[in-house]
Parts: sequence; structure tokens; C-alpha cells
Amino acid sequence: MLSPISSLSIVVLLLSVSITTYASVPENFIHCLSSNSDRSILTPAAFYFQNNATFTPFLESTAQNLRYLKPSMPKPELIFTPLHESQVQGAVICSKKLGIHLRVRSGGHDYEALSYVSQLESPFMILDLSKLRAINVDIEDNSAWIQAGATIGEVYYRISEKSNVHGFPAGLCTSLGIGGHITGGAYGPIMRKYGLGADNVLDAQIVDANGKILDRAAMGEDLFWAIRGGGGASFGIILWWKIKLVPVPPTVTVFSVTKTLEQGATKVLYKWQQVAPYTDEDLFVRVIIQPAKVANKTERTVSTTYNALFLGEADRLLQVIQQSFPELGLTKKDVLETSWIKSVLYIAGYPSDTPPEVLLQGKSTFKNFFKAKSDFVREPIPESGLEGLWKRLFEEEDPLTIWNPYGGMMSKISESEIPFPHRNGTLFKIQYVTSWQDGHENEAKHIDWMRKLHNYMAPYVSKFPREAYVNYRDLDLGINKKNNTSFIQASAWGNMYFKNNFNRLVKVKTKVDPDNFFRHEQSIPALPVSTRKCKGRRCKNN
Ligand SMILES: Cc1cc2nc3c(=O)[nH]c(=O)nc-3n(C[C@H](O)[C@H](O)[C@H](O)COP(=O)(O)OP(=O)(O)OC[C@H]3O[C@@H](n4cnc5c(N)ncnc54)[C@H](O)[C@@H]3O)c2cc1C
Ligand SMILES: *[C@@H]1O[C@H](CO)[C@@H](O)[C@H](O)[C@H]1NC(C)=O
Ligand SMILES: *[C@@H]1O[C@H](CO)[C@@H](O)[C@H](O)[C@H]1NC(C)=O
Ligand SMILES: *[C@@H]1O[C@H](CO)[C@@H](O)[C@H](O)[C@H]1NC(C)=O
Ligand SMILES: *[C@@H]1O[C@H](CO)[C@@H](O)[C@H](O)[C@H]1NC(C)=O
Ligand SMILES: *[C@@H]1O[C@H](CO)[C@@H](O)[C@H](O)[C@H]1NC(C)=O
Repeated sequence: MLSPISSLSIVVLLLSVSITTYASVPENFIHCLSSNSDRSILTPAAFYFQNNATFTPFLESTAQNLRYLKPSMPKPELIFTPLHESQVQGAVICSKKLGIHLRVRSGGHDYEALSYVSQLESPFMILDLSKLRAINVDIEDNSAWIQAGATIGEVYYRISEKSNVHGFPAGLCTSLGIGGHITGGAYGPIMRKYGLGADNVLDAQIVDANGKILDRAAMGEDLFWAIRGGGGASFGIILWWKIKLVPVPPTVTVFSVTKTLEQGATKVLYKWQQVAPYTDEDLFVRVIIQPAKVANKTERTVSTTYNALFLGEADRLLQVIQQSFPELGLTKKDVLETSWIKSVLYIAGYPSDTPPEVLLQGKSTFKNFFKAKSDFVREPIPESGLEGLWKRLFEEEDPLTIWNPYGGMMSKISESEIPFPHRNGTLFKIQYVTSWQDGHENEAKHIDWMRKLHNYMAPYVSKFPREAYVNYRDLDLGINKKNNTSFIQASAWGNMYFKNNFNRLVKVKTKVDPDNFFRHEQSIPALPVSTRKCKGRRCKNN
């Protein structure tokens, strides 16, 4: 560790260079930061310049979509990893002052890399929050304060460390950053009982576009509403979430059962669509669908794996399935009783003997080149529709689709309670993913396949608008474009992600960030100045 004094002198050295030579963007930024945040703890090791040997490994460390790491993709001038909240404030103030576009990254799982690539503006820099990852669980109060850079796996672990009957209803993939994850909703295997992560947020601390730290009381209910589901990086930088813990039983039950086409997969899946959204709220059965080889044969089949968590013991689960979904043929030997924290590992796909401490590594188990899309389904898809889907899956190298049941608590929360609008009437969500490992050669082909699949599914899914999950960012749905003077909104993605809540999000944005400091390819737009109701200084040009 560098002592504060030596690190300060290096920073100051950089400053003096910058003053005399019309320095680079990073140097100007550091100079500005040292007078706009707590400089006693500002160390050179917090800055990754393009010529640091560690720049590329660090840029790539949490980036999930390899498609956005290829050499032709724009690279940040600088990555700054703040060690203190005042430095997040300083980063906002200085990026604004110096006109360096800023992207914020927590867990790096953004499907379109919005947290680490700007295709709109250069220069840009990344504010990477991975060093701000404290978690303070208060079992007595059924709550926890979590810093944005923590992963959801760490959160689950820290809760389970203090209690085996408390949990939190967020994502299945344990390396998700809590900072970005909750801003888009955050669903997972106990959503049918408790709703989304964003439905269970009690308070937050953010840095706003003026560099001020605001908690719920200070930001007001409109902004507090907008940050819980309105998508990342449009309203401010989340420093902390205060979450509400939910009860889980000491024993839960999990299973995974696979049906292939030869085993009647199409009919079973048709039945699942009519059962999974209405069954006991303690039960979450998702379906993972992929092409597979037929045993002993060369031709392909479709494998549908029913992957489930039940908040209760095996006997009751077997009764529930026997009554509502006997077609699954679930037997006692298929099911496993375990603790909630071990169910987290099971659902995330870790081998059965993995110790929960693996969650503290905050590492991703999944990284490749991929393109994904989502749909919400409001009426069961007929068997003929499923058969057409199988045909398309056979055309692609490594496709995957995951179907997540809704209903239960998800239907009881109103569409406007938070910006996430996909509620009552939604039977399930589909995620389509195609991934590849062979670099960039066939990228266009894979993406084209995905777009055609999305077209094929249109008759079977939600319409007017066709809904999509904002946490599965999809730039095909439209992007904000920058021209000389301002950003123009390109398309209808706002209604697909947020339905009628989009209008309220635009109003909040116009009020809290009229100059559009927090912006990216699909950030919520502020209303153009000419259409605003002007009140004094608010109405200044941008
Ligand atoms: C393998 C994988 C599995 C997934 N599984 C699930 C799942 O089970 N459930 C689910 O709901 N979603 C899931 N997702 C989607 C996930 O919720 C989103 O990608 C989410 O945005 C990731 O948050 P992050 O912090 O890891 O990502 P980042 O890439 O760091 O951020 C995502 C977005 O939020 C912004 N942002 C990041 N940090 C902050 C902050 N502190 N304040 C304000 N804005 C911020 C970024 O600029 C970016 O726009 C999965 C994604 C992947 C890649
Ligand atoms: C990057 O290089 C600078 C200058 O050599 C050094 O002071 C700094 O610690 C390096 N940053 C990291 C993250 O290693
Ligand atoms: C077919 O495959 C099964 C396992 O998938 C194996 O047990 C069996 O011996 C195989 N039969 C033949 C004829 O290869
Ligand atoms: C959900 O919608 C259905 C049909 O539109 C309605 O009958 C039901 O009461 C609604 N449920 C809730 C909890 O609002
Ligand atoms: C601004 O727009 C004009 C006319 O469209 C164009 O010639 C010019 O290059 C643009 N400037 C920038 C900085 O994009
Ligand atoms: C840029 O966008 C603004 C807002 O939509 C529009 O008024 C202006 O005419 C556009 N300018 C150019 C050069 O296209």
C-alpha cells in the first residue's frame, strides 16, 4: 500500500504536468478530482490509464459480453475506481466540468455493455464501483444497506451468514452487481412469492447530476420511484440500496427434470404455460430450453429442463405438483431438500458440493459473445407455435431460451407501483440467447438469426406494446442519437420497457437531470427545452 503522502505526491505530480502541457483528458480529470473530493484518500492506483498494463485486464474483468471487447469497440480514456463516496461526487462534478462523458459500472452484466462502452461519444471514461462493496445486514430490522459494487451473491451470503430464515428476492445469476441489477427490476426464483428486488427496496443513497448525495427523503418520492426499475444510469449513481429482507423457510426444495421431444416435451410445455403462473406462490418452475442430441442417434431433439425452487419441504412440493402438473412425472428421487443459500447455488448452476463461500469471489461463471432478447407472454403459445420455435432452434449453433413464470405476488403489484410494468396478465417471460465462442466472424449471422426468431414469435407474445425487460437491454429496439445540439430519441423502446410509466420517467428525468448528464444509448430522455414549462433558471438551454 502506498502511504497517503506518497500517493498524494504522485497525484500532485500528475497535476503539475497537466498544467504545463495542456494535459490529456485523464490528467485533467485527476487534477479536477483532487480539488473536488477527499484528496487524502485519492491514490494513483485508483486510476487505470490506457497505457497501464492492468488497463485491459481490468476493463475486461467484469465485462460479460465479449462482443463488446473486440478491438474495434471504443475504449475509455480512463477507468476510475473510487474508494470513497466523495470521489463519486467528484467524478460527476469533474466529468461535467471537463466534458468527459461518464459511464458507471457496478457488476458489468449489461447485455449491450452500456456500462463500459459508449458508441455515442468520445472521449468517455468509466466510473467503476467495484471497490465500494460493503454490506451491512441488520436481521433485527429485517433490512440491509448494500453498496452498489457488491454482487447479489455476496448479498445472499451475508444474509445467510446471519440467519437461515431470511432471504432477498433478486437475480439467479450470483455475479450480478447490485448497483445495476435493481435499477431494472431484478427478478429471481422467489419473485412469485415476494416480487422483484426493486419491489423490496426501502431507501437508497444516490449521487445526482449536481454531485449531491441524496437519500429517499432528500430525493423525494418521484425520483425514488424512478430509480427502482427505470433502468440504470438515467437519474443518478446509486451508492447504496437499503433492501427489505424476506422470510424463507429453513428447508427449501429444488429439482431439475428434463423432457425431450421423444418424452412429450411439447405437450408438457403447453401444460406448463397454464399451470406455472397460477400454482402455489411458494413454487417457481422455470424452463430452460435448448437443442440436444438424441441418445445413440445423430439427429437433434429439444431438451426442456424444468428447474425449480420450492419454499417448503419435499412432501408438500410433491403434493402441489401431483395436483397441478402430474405431466411432469416428478418423483421423490428427483427432488432435493436443502437450505435457501444452497438453493441459490443450485439455481445458479454450481456443482452440488460447492461451498457457499464461492459467492464471495464475486466471479462470473458465464462469459461469451452473445445477443439476447426478451418477450412477455399473456396467452399460452399453442403447440404449433412451439413446433415452429423448435425448427428455428435447430438452425442455430448454440441457442438457448429460458421461460420464467409470473403470477403470484407479481400479479398483485400494480403496473405503476414502480417503473417495471410487466404485472398482472403476464403468464411468463421468455429470454432468447444465442452465444458463440468463435470470435467475431459469424457475429452478423447470429444476430440476424436472433432478429428473425424475434419476428417469428410476434404473434404469440404481448402486443401494443410488445413488452421487453429493460435489464435485458436490446439496442435493436432503438437508440438515442446525438446530433450537434442534443439527444434525439430514436424509437419506441420506452414503451416496450416501461409501458405507460415511460411518460412519468421522462417527467422525472426532465426535472432532476434537465441537461441530460446521465445519458447512454437508451437513457430516459429529458424533454426538449422548447416543450418544457419554463420556470426561471430551470429553463436554461442545453
Ligand atoms: C449472465 C447474466 C445473468 C442474468 N441474470 C439475471 C437475473 O437472474 N435476474 C435479472 O433480473 N436480471 C438478470 N440479468 C440482467 C441484469 O439484471 C442486468 O444486466 C443488470 O443491469 C446488471 O447489473 P450490473 O451492475 O451487473 O451491470 P452493469 O453493466 O454494471 O450496469 C448495468 C446498467 O446499469 C448502470 N449502472 C451500473 N451501476 C450503476 C449505479 N451504481 N447507479 C446507476 N446506474 C448504474 C450501467 O451504467 C448500465 O447502464 C442477467 C445478466 C447476465 C449477463
Ligand atoms: C497506472 O500507472 C500509473 C503511472 O505509472 C500508476 O501510478 C498507477 O498506480 C497505475 N494504476 C494501476 C491501477 O495500476
Ligand atoms: C444408448 O445410450 C444409452 C445411454 O444414453 C446407453 O446406456 C446404451 O447402452 C446405448 N445403447 C446403444 C445400443 O448404444
Ligand atoms: C388480474 O387480472 C385478472 C383478469 O384480467 C383479474 O380477474 C384479476 O382480478 C386480476 N388480479 C389482481 C390481483 O388484480
Ligand atoms: C454539426 O452539424 C453540421 C451540419 O449537419 C456538420 O457539418 C458538423 O460536422 C457537425 N458538427 C459536429 C461536431 O458533429
Ligand atoms: C438536433 O436535434 C434537435 C432536437 O431534436 C433538433 O431540434 C435539431 O434540429 C437537430 N439538429 C440537427 C443538426 O439535426
